[in-house]
Amino acid sequence: MILNLLFMFAIFSIVTAGDPNVLIDFVAPNNTIDANYFTFTGMRQLVGGEYPTTFRALKVSMNEFLTLCGQSVSYAILEFPAGSINPVHIHPRASELMFLVSGSLQVGFVDTSNTLYKQSLRIGDVFVFPKGFVHFQYNNDTKEPALAISAFGSANAGTQLIPTSVFNTSIFEGILDASFQATRATIRRIEDGLKE
Ligand SMILES: *[C@@H]1O[C@H](CO)[C@@H](O)[C@H](O)[C@H]1NC(C)=O
Ligand SMILES: *[C@@H]1O[C@H](CO)[C@@H](O)[C@H](O)[C@H]1NC(C)=O
Ligand SMILES: *[C@@H]1O[C@H](CO)[C@@H](O)[C@H](O)[C@H]1NC(C)=O
Repeated sequence: MILNLLFMFAIFSIVTAGDPNVLIDFVAPNNTIDANYFTFTGMRQLVGGEYPTTFRALKVSMNEFLTLCGQSVSYAILEFPAGSINPVHIHPRASELMFLVSGSLQVGFVDTSNTLYKQSLRIGDVFVFPKGFVHFQYNNDTKEPALAISAFGSANAGTQLIPTSVFNTSIFEGILDASFQATRATIRRIEDGLKE
């Protein structure tokens, strides 16, 4: 019986792991909407487009496509020119399921016991970054770009870039010195690098 309850709880947790459900069919501004309201065309720029010169994430979350509000899903198309990285960051509200469409990527995340799980991904591989953990992606190829599509279990997964959120937000300097057990000069060098 207890086992059954635990199992039920596990299932329940899974079905409630997304954004809160809305109690209407979908969120719409009025009742004269048509199929266009459910169509996002902002990704058409990718078709036949050039790779950017630095890493770029093209997102379709509720910030770009308000129709996603209440739908618990979103996407990001990640373009990695040769040698580029998506710096260490966190998505506070969703897990990320990444599909490598072309090129190769070195990826990894760190769990709460500070274990690093890293992987070399090949075309066709899918990797999951569990919700809320520090993670990164790196195209270690000197010539070939890489393209990945990430799905998120939230309409607004959110992103906190660790370098920016820690070193570019005016956290009182003594706090950073002590946190990283580093001299002020070292911390300032990191801060200055991000201000440029
Ligand atoms: C209803 O909302 C849609 C989507 O935002 C908009 O295109 C349309 O003009 C609105 N219709 C009216 C009557 O306000
Ligand atoms: C990148 O590739 C080089 C050359 O193959 C290798 O020595 C290095 O360990 C790789 N770095 C990562 C992070 O995979
Ligand atoms: C750091 O903050 C400054 C001032 O707010 C901003 O101009 C700059 O773009 C930020 N740098 C990064 C890497 O976010």
